[in-house]
Amino acid sequence: MMTLDEALAGDAADPLRHFRERFALPEGVIYLDGNSLGPLPRATVTAMDDMVRRQWGERLIRGWNEGWIDAPQRIGGKIARLIGADADEVIVADSTSANLFKAIVAALRRDPARRTVVTELGNFPTDLHVAEGAVGCVEGARLNAVARGDLGAAIGDDTALLLLTHVHYKTAERFDMAAWTERAHAAGALVLWDLSHSAGAVPVDLGGAGADLAVGCGYKYLNGGPGAPAFLYVAGRWQEGLGNPLSGWMGHEAPFAMEDRYRPAPGIRRWLAGTPPVIGMAALEAGVDLLLEADMAAITAKSIGLFDTMAAIGDALGLDCVSPRDAATRGSHISFRHPEAYQLCQALIAEDVIGDFRDPDILRLGLTPLYLGFEDVVRAGEILKVILTEQRHRDPRFAIRAAVT
Ligand SMILES: Cc1ncc(COP(=O)(O)O)c(C=O)c1O
Repeated sequence: MMTLDEALAGDAADPLRHFRERFALPEGVIYLDGNSLGPLPRATVTAMDDMVRRQWGERLIRGWNEGWIDAPQRIGGKIARLIGADADEVIVADSTSANLFKAIVAALRRDPARRTVVTELGNFPTDLHVAEGAVGCVEGARLNAVARGDLGAAIGDDTALLLLTHVHYKTAERFDMAAWTERAHAAGALVLWDLSHSAGAVPVDLGGAGADLAVGCGYKYLNGGPGAPAFLYVAGRWQEGLGNPLSGWMGHEAPFAMEDRYRPAPGIRRWLAGTPPVIGMAALEAGVDLLLEADMAAITAKSIGLFDTMAAIGDALGLDCVSPRDAATRGSHISFRHPEAYQLCQALIAEDVIGDFRDPDILRLGLTPLYLGFEDVVRAGEILKVILTEQRHRDPRFAIRAAVT
């Protein structure tokens, strides 16, 4: 197990160390939750001030022609660099849930002979729920959600779309994107990847994998702020052939021609629906710009180091780690299964170690290399040890469930 001295030496040698100062992290808090809500980049404060006081306050509606209207494509182009896509294949729009809906319905309408969406049981709830709603909007369509081990057998002649979350939100298990994309394509199906726990966390190569569609959150590893807009990737080859079922005016070829009939814009812009949330976009852009300064190989190497440090602590405490030990098959968080995971999480938060809980028994800790150090992980482990040894988590106040867990 790593000692505090070793952790300090590791931090001193860390090429990403200087990024920590770029975040406004509260003093004394160990933030192991950047995979749920990334912390506030200092640059976002400046960007928000400019957005609200100058752009909104002074430029008023002139702002639309001074960068607002292009923000979905501009920021999409930046996110593209993090996920192995071309700049004109990604757009920032709506929420991940809404983008899932658009992409699933579009994939189902491509080929009327294919009626099934195949996905994994235990996928993130919104993926399953939106898929359920989306198949209900397309005649004859159905959802086939199966256990991970049965996915291969479930893909067949009738499959329109394979819908998978690249890094599992609970366990951090990571699918082999290229291999599963190939399997879907071999059966004539499209594939849609949810990159919510991947973008900015692990290397992603949508283009290299030949992926068709992808979505992801802006508020996790992209540090776009609470409720940040999401992104949608549509491979160049599908941009003309697939239609956006939320055919709103911002996806029209000429929104300000005010035509009665919908004519989709060529390219990625057709995947917009309504007016972009400009303030949220500005916050997301600041987060993405910061991430683009970092080297993904350094992020990956440090993520592995932070994981190994935490995994060794978990082993020493006798915790049941449900995340893969093989770095190539996981994301950038670590999860422990524990019958009192909720209470443990609350007891940690009471000590300013912020992680999260996933029902029914998962304690999930985000290991975000940009601002976390080895010292943070070792100190979090020490606090966890005290809580477990003294059974502090058994305090009844830690069993009270809040609305958001
Ligand atoms: C895999 C995955 N998809 C989607 C979402 C959330 O989607 P939305 O931003 O629409 O709430 C999350 C949130 O944690 C997630 O983990």
